[in-house]
Amino acid sequence: MEPTTNLTRRMGLAENLETLQLAALDSVAAAASLDDLAQAESDAIGRDSEIAGARRSLGSLPAEERRDAGRMINDVFQTVQGAIAQRREELQTEARAGRLVAEAIDVTVDHQVLPAGGLHLIQQVMDEVCDIFIGLGYHVAEGPEAELAWYNFDALNTPPDHPGRLESDTMYVDYGDPSDELLLRAHTSPVQARYMETHEPPVYIVAPGRAYRNDTIDATHLPAFHQIEGLAVDTAITFADLKGTLAEFARRFFGETTEVRLRPHYFPFTEPSAELDVSCFNCDGGETGCRVCKGVGWLEMLGCGMVDPHVFEAVGYDPDEVTGFAFGMGVERLAMVRHGIDSIRHFIDNDLRFLRQFPG
Ligand code: PHE
Repeated sequence: MEPTTNLTRRMGLAENLETLQLAALDSVAAAASLDDLAQAESDAIGRDSEIAGARRSLGSLPAEERRDAGRMINDVFQTVQGAIAQRREELQTEARAGRLVAEAIDVTVDHQVLPAGGLHLIQQVMDEVCDIFIGLGYHVAEGPEAELAWYNFDALNTPPDHPGRLESDTMYVDYGDPSDELLLRAHTSPVQARYMETHEPPVYIVAPGRAYRNDTIDATHLPAFHQIEGLAVDTAITFADLKGTLAEFARRFFGETTEVRLRPHYFPFTEPSAELDVSCFNCDGGETGCRVCKGVGWLEMLGCGMVDPHVFEAVGYDPDEVTGFAFGMGVERLAMVRHGIDSIRHFIDNDLRFLRQFPG
C-alpha cells in the first residue's frame, strides 16, 4: 500500500468534499418542491450520506489530522444546511403565493342561490295523516286513478242507476256498457275493494291519493282533489272502534282537546253510515263569530261507517266472519280547516306567495 502523506490525504479529502458539496448544492437548487428538498437533504447530509459517513470515520484518522478534517467536514455541512434553509424558504414563499392565487375569493361576484324546493301542503297533510295511522298499526295502500266502474261503484254496493254514475258527475275514460266502463275514480274507496280482493283479513289500511269529479271549480270544489281512505276489517270490529279510532286521529291532527261527534248519513257501501264532526280547534267549540267554524262550534270532517255486508260479499269475504269500518276524508278540506285557507283554488294556483307559507 502506498504511503500517503498528511497533505495528500488531506487534499484527497478536500477534493472529495468539494465534489460532494457541489453535487449537494446542485440538487438543493434543483429541488422543485418541499418534498424534493427533503429528499435532497437526506441524500446530501442525512444519516446515510457520504458526508455523514466521512464524519463518522474521523475517529480513525491520526489525531493531528482530525481537527482539520473535522473543520472541513463541518464547513461542508454548514454550507449545505444553509443552502437548504434558503431553498426551503423560497419554496414556501412560492407555495404560499400559489395558494393565495388558487384560493382567491372574489367577493364582488354574486353567489348563486339555488332555491330549495318543498313539499306542497297537500302532500304534507297526506304524509302527516298517514303517519298518524301508521302509528296506530295501519299500512298504506294505493290503487289506480283510472279505475274500472266495477271497483268504483259495483263492488261498493252502488247500483247501476245511482245518480253518481252519470256522466254529469263522474269523468269517464270509457262510458256506456256498465260491465266494462273505465273512469277516473270519484273517490279513494275502490282501493278498499281492490285491497280486500287480494288480501286476507285482518285489514288495516289507509289509501291516500287523487280523486276526480265533474265539478266546476269554486271556493270549495276542484275536479281533481285528494282523499285518504281508511279501512279496518277484523273478526270483531264495532262502531265503538270506528269512533275511538277517528277520535284518536282527530286529537293527534287537531290537538289534544278535540272532541268528535257522529251525525247519521248515507253511503251505499257502509251501513250504518255517518259524518264525523270535530269540535272547532280555533274557539274550542262554541264562541259565536269564530271565523273557522262560523260560530257553529263544529267542523264537518269526513264520511264513515261500518262496511256493508254486500261489499264483503263482492270481494269474497264472509260477512258472517268479519266486520269492519271505513272512512274517507278530503285532504284539501283538512288543510283548509287547519290553516284557515279560504279558497281551495290556492292549492292549484302555484302562487309562491301562498306555497311559501307552508315550508313543511
Ligand atoms: N267515499 C266517500 C266519499 O267520497 C267517503 C267515505 C269513505 C264514506 C268510506 C264512508 C266510508 O264521500
